[in-house]
Amino acid sequence: MVKNLSNRHLFLNYLGQTSKHPIALEIKKAKGIYLYTSKGKKYIDMVSGVCVNNFGHNHQKVVEAVVNQAKIHMHLMVYGEYIQQPQLQYAKTLVSLLPHNLESIYYVNSGSEAIEGAIKLAKRFTKRTEIIAFKNAYHGSTHGALSIGHENLKNTFRPLLPDVKLLEFNNRENILKVSKKTACVVVEPIQAEAGVILPEEDFLKDLSDRCKKTGTLFIFDEVQTGFGRCGTLFAFEQYEAAPDILVIAKAMGGGMPLGGFISSKNIMDSLAENPTAGHITTFGGHPVSCASAIAALNLLINTSILSKVKTKGDLIYNTLKNHPTVFQIRKTGLLLAVELKEKKLAAKAINALLEEGLVTDRFLFNDYAFRIAPPLTITKREIKTVCKKIIKALDALK
Ligand SMILES: Cc1ncc(COP(=O)(O)O)c(C=O)c1O
Repeated sequence: MVKNLSNRHLFLNYLGQTSKHPIALEIKKAKGIYLYTSKGKKYIDMVSGVCVNNFGHNHQKVVEAVVNQAKIHMHLMVYGEYIQQPQLQYAKTLVSLLPHNLESIYYVNSGSEAIEGAIKLAKRFTKRTEIIAFKNAYHGSTHGALSIGHENLKNTFRPLLPDVKLLEFNNRENILKVSKKTACVVVEPIQAEAGVILPEEDFLKDLSDRCKKTGTLFIFDEVQTGFGRCGTLFAFEQYEAAPDILVIAKAMGGGMPLGGFISSKNIMDSLAENPTAGHITTFGGHPVSCASAIAALNLLINTSILSKVKTKGDLIYNTLKNHPTVFQIRKTGLLLAVELKEKKLAAKAINALLEEGLVTDRFLFNDYAFRIAPPLTITKREIKTVCKKIIKALDALK
């Protein structure tokens, strides 16, 4: 019988672990940009649950929407069978904000599942099998998503998906490798887990042109970059390249689990035939998640939050960029990679920042940098306080 064990012990022994060194903060409650632990310590969340809580924790409007929908109904039927108001309302609003070809949304539960669905859709629609993606990318942890990402995570899981080519991001010569055999090109417009690697001028546009020429579907993974994180609703708006399929999740659900892939009706319809049920999901588009997503999207389009993202990101960048331990800061909106001059310093910095009451995060594929991605609602005054703490922590490194 389990009795009198600490929560830390239960966590470490009864929950499957993703690493040997989880942060293991015991959070009692969260509000706005703040996390409160059971030991009475207050932290500033500078990572937003990895680009999820773009509107801070427990935003009143989001919580109300969740509670109201839970009282009306929760799960009714597997995705795609019943007509459910929250799914319709969200789709109508989101589609009205997107280019005309992105008109039909398929709801799923997560970013990985959305990537799986998007790849399957491309294969079925084009009747081709080759998938092109990019080195150092992260698209998720399921077998298909793993197949099109960084090599580091693949060890012992092979064989993975066949017919996958991984090209160098930002290398123009590679673009010609996209051919009439290619079902889809999957790209993060900004490679997040590689440490916020931005596309070089015209790289995405040239890729997009090549996809058009070869009848290849261009899939944008905006799981991490979407919903205002980069200063526009989606990052692709900042480049002259529109996706055939847009993949979304994370901040989409306003803190509830939700993902989706969006395409033209013509392309999307191919999942429903030859044979039917091209992708099936029980919980995809859960009504409570969709209600939460509507509230979150309304915050983004009906307030001034989005218009201030860039200047807030600039403020962090300008305050930290000349610190002697900083090699380079790469940023887009409020997603920043602070790359330090020595590898060992990044892990030390994350711990030192935690001591200062700031939660930041590492990147999966860049050991030199730490991630700053606060809720977009953070104020300039809060940013100044945070930057003072970061400078103090960086000063003490070495
Ligand atoms: C760009 C990108 N794609 C896909 C995923 C996978 O999303 P999820 O963890 O919801 O499966 C992530 C998660 O970090 C991501 O950053």
